Amino acid sequence: LFESVELAPRDPILGLNEQYNADTRAGKVNLGVGVYYDDGGRLPLLQAVRKAEIARLDAAAARGYLPIEGIAGYNKAAQTLLFGAGSPLMASGRVLTAQALGGTGALKIGADFLKQLLPNSRVVISDPSWENHRALFERAGFPVDTYPYYDAASHGLDFAGMLAGLRALPEQTIVVLHACCHNPTGIDPTFEQWQQIVQVVKDRNLVPFLDIAYQGFGDGLEEDASVVRLFAEHDLTMLISSSFSKSFSLYGERVGALTLVSSSKEEATRVLSQLKRVIRTNYSNPPTHGGTVVSTVLNTPELYTLWATELAGMRERIRSMRIQLVEKLKEHGVKQNFDFVLKQRGMFSYSGLTAPQVDRLRDEYGIYAISSGRICVAALNTGNIDYVAASIAKVLA
Ligand code: LMR
Repeated sequence: LFESVELAPRDPILGLNEQYNADTRAGKVNLGVGVYYDDGGRLPLLQAVRKAEIARLDAAAARGYLPIEGIAGYNKAAQTLLFGAGSPLMASGRVLTAQALGGTGALKIGADFLKQLLPNSRVVISDPSWENHRALFERAGFPVDTYPYYDAASHGLDFAGMLAGLRALPEQTIVVLHACCHNPTGIDPTFEQWQQIVQVVKDRNLVPFLDIAYQGFGDGLEEDASVVRLFAEHDLTMLISSSFSKSFSLYGERVGALTLVSSSKEEATRVLSQLKRVIRTNYSNPPTHGGTVVSTVLNTPELYTLWATELAGMRERIRSMRIQLVEKLKEHGVKQNFDFVLKQRGMFSYSGLTAPQVDRLRDEYGIYAISSGRICVAALNTGNIDYVAASIAKVLA
């Protein structure tokens, strides 16, 4: 049966973790996967999460099956994060949400559902995009193309190219857009540019699939939802995948959500019934623990405030690491201008390092980055930043 099975390549992101874990060098640094570490290099357990977990333990609740679409309070809170408290869209009953296995799980059930609805459509993702976007949509049976996004010369956005690319798409093409903190580049369109993008999506009758895995890591929880809210104001039907992996530091709990905006309340009921079939035939229903913890935090005002403060702390620390990285690179004699790192948002920096330079960083200095040159700024800290900057300076020399 398995004789003809070929060895698959390592995953470009999670495969690096395997290599990193096997590396025995003392000073190794993992700037590969998008994970936030504190200044001591530790993966944090947020206080708000801890408190919700203690409450959960005290309640000693049994673990029955959740509804197929997950915890109602979790789904409502996920919607509120996207559309804001008192959202008229939510009140209209047109929005439905299913708790999902992380942002990836949300993308996957969304992709499977879309394949039923639009079997002949294509998917377009930004060039570049998160490594798993292409693989995931291809696995769901879609051909995947790209639209222009990154301009290497300016380390910025190729906005004219992006807009022209979107304008040229056939109707009902599924367009994956990063609603904030673009992964891997860290470069987001401005709000004014988003206003033009949403107009093209509407005029061309494209199907927007907004991916928001880093809400709270750009400018703030509300600010980072502004693109989702802009699309909602334009009365578009759309899909949105959310992840709480990073914002709650709950990577292993697989906490995410898929939200669909339909045209009417009656349509939403039909859509949810079909989405539930997709979920049921994939994993039946989601797990309880992570969802309960996130739901408790989001629905308990005191815990929500604590969480928002902790998230702001993570955002601020990443910002200060961006500043320090640019300074340290200068100190170590790097001639190239790295100021673009300060303009990027979220966890990542598309550093401009080439694949051979990334290889040298890993082989000679034990510093792991994605071969595209993406580095996770959220893994830098006051203890490793000097070493990282010095090593980058050496591979650039
Ligand atoms: C990343 O881009 O590093 C994260 O989203 C983790 C992942 O699943 O790839």
